[in-house]
Amino acid sequence: MFLIREFREEDVYDVFRISYESLTEKYSLELFLDIYHSWPAGFLVAVTSEIIGFIAGTRDNKSARILMLAVDKKIRGKGVGSALLNRFTIQCKTEGLKSISLEVRVSNKRAIEFYVNHGFQIISMLEKYYTNGEAAYVMWKMI
Ligand SMILES: CC(C)(COP(=O)(O)OP(=O)(O)OC[C@H]1O[C@@H](n2cnc3c(N)ncnc32)[C@H](O)[C@@H]1OP(=O)(O)O)[C@@H](O)C(=O)NCCC(=O)NCCS
Repeated sequence: MFLIREFREEDVYDVFRISYESLTEKYSLELFLDIYHSWPAGFLVAVTSEIIGFIAGTRDNKSARILMLAVDKKIRGKGVGSALLNRFTIQCKTEGLKSISLEVRVSNKRAIEFYVNHGFQIISMLEKYYTNGEAAYVMWKMI
C-alpha cells in the first residue's frame, strides 16, 4: 500500500535518486526545489515507508504540463504511476485547468503506451529535444 501526498523539501534527495535512476535526462537538486516552489500542489510523491515515485508539473491559467514522472524501478507495473497521474489530474481539474501536456522520448515505448492508456494522444514531435539529440513526442489530453 502507498499514499500520495504533496512533495516536501526534505523529500528532495529521494526524488533526486529516483529521477537519477529512472530518467535519462539529469536534473539538479535546485531544479526540483524551483519546480516545487513554482507550483507546490503540482508536485506529488508516492510514499510507503519511503518515497517510491513522483510527478512534477508546471501550469499556466489554462493548462498543465508534466515535467517529470518516475516510479522506482523495483515497483513499476503496480499502479503507482497511474495513481500519481490520476491525483495530478484531479489537482488540475480542481484548479480549473482544461488540458495536460507532456514531452516523452520517441523511444520510450512503455511510457508512451502508459500515457495513451490514460487518454493522451501524440499531437506533434520536437526534433533534437533532449540533450543526447533524441526527439520528443508532445502528448496532450483534455481533462
Ligand atoms: C512510466 C512509469 C511512470 C509508469 O509507472 P508504473 O507505476 O509502472 O505505472 P502503472 O503500474 O500504473 O501502469 C503501468 C502499465 O504498464 C503495465 N506494466 C506491466 N508490467 C510493467 C512493468 N514491469 N513496468 C511498467 N509497466 C508495466 C501495467 O500493466 C500498466 O498497464 P495498465 O494500466 O494497462 O494495467 C514508469 O514505468 C517509469 O517510471 N518509467 C521510467 C521513467 C519514465 O519513462 N517516465 C515517463 C517519461 S516522462
